[in-house]
Amino acid sequence: MEDFKNNRRFKFIAAPMLFLMVLLFATTSNDAFGQTAWVAPSSSNSLKNPYVGNTNATAAGKNLYKQFCAICHGDKGKGDGLAGMTLKPRPANFAKSDIQSQTDGAIYWKITEGRAPMASYKTALTEQQRWQLVNYIRQLGGK
Ligand code: HEC
Repeated sequence: MEDFKNNRRFKFIAAPMLFLMVLLFATTSNDAFGQTAWVAPSSSNSLKNPYVGNTNATAAGKNLYKQFCAICHGDKGKGDGLAGMTLKPRPANFAKSDIQSQTDGAIYWKITEGRAPMASYKTALTEQQRWQLVNYIRQLGGK
């Protein structure tokens, strides 16, 4: 009789425990594989960069980059800035083709909107400044 009661209690506790363990595994393993890729909406692809080929704008972007972005993305844009080391996901490496293959509009949109742990720069930077940064990100990518 005592054994039977214990058995029932075990089931009562074991089922929700098992559920919780599966849930925990699902959330932590998702973390281990990193966040889903950050994709800008396709509408952003048609945003026109007013500074294509404008070297003054690229130089201005470089100054902004040093001030606002290098701390996480690194001096050369390799995603190795001091403040980025412990972030999840890690800051983007602008030399990579998965960044450079995106349109100027998509990169501009991401700087504008941000995604945690990266902030939105919609109000901190003007439209002009965000496009100047797009130019400089192209330079960091060797383009
Ligand atoms: C607090 C650290 C931090 C700062 C400061 C920061 N970023 Fe980021 N940035 C990140 C992280 C982390 C990601 C990756 C986010 C993700 O994939 O969800 C990222 C991603 C990006 C991306 C998207 C890359 C891709 O996957 O397509 C761009 C573009 C970008 N950053 C530009 C900038 C620019 C320009 C600045 C300066 C105005 C800046 N970031 C400042 C942390 C930072």
